Amino acid sequence: MDSSEFLGFLSSRTSIRSYREETLDPGALAYMLSCASSAPSAGNLESWDVVVVTEPGTKEALSEAALDQPHIREAPVVLVVGANYVRAMSRYGDRGILYAVCDASIACTYMMLAAHALGLGSCWTGAFDDEDVRDVLGLPQHVRPVALLAVGHGEQTSGMTSRLPVEEHVHLEAW
Ligand SMILES: Cc1cc2nc3c(=O)[nH]c(=O)nc-3n(C[C@H](O)[C@H](O)[C@H](O)COP(=O)(O)O)c2cc1C
Repeated sequence: MDSSEFLGFLSSRTSIRSYREETLDPGALAYMLSCASSAPSAGNLESWDVVVVTEPGTKEALSEAALDQPHIREAPVVLVVGANYVRAMSRYGDRGILYAVCDASIACTYMMLAAHALGLGSCWTGAFDDEDVRDVLGLPQHVRPVALLAVGHGEQTSGMTSRLPVEEHVHLEAW
């Protein structure tokens, strides 16, 4: 893939919130998890974990924890990505809290792009009640849920979303 194909790949991804009733091939899930495992992480500690959820009752409870967002209950798979504070803090102390969130975000991003590479739709979902998600999945206190990544065969492609001109983000040499 050359650099313009890479940009085309990135910009052709959109959040998909509607899925066909079709289960995910186990190979697809394994591929996404392998991609996450290749992500960089602070100190190479890989301070992230993921709970793979396919059970309808659990997805329903996660959807309720996420402001009743329907795509969470409708997706065949929801990947709940958590920041593992203990792993990062064992080396980095308080700074590890930030590193664990970064590690989990990068792992989730890799899985989202892996899904796109497979022609699957996904939606990063960040609006949820942490404690409710913890309760549903039995997450330990040292793991903070960072994202619910809904994944499935997209029912339809949603329109491309616009972006700010990149210059709005960029500060040359200093703010
Ligand atoms: C941190 C984060 C939190 C998000 N939370 C939600 C969410 O709770 N529900 C939702 O439908 N989309 C959510 N999204 C998806 C964004 O709405 C979406 O990425 C953005 O509008 C750009 O659209 P695109 O992904 O189609 O390019 C979230 C994305 C990120 C990165």
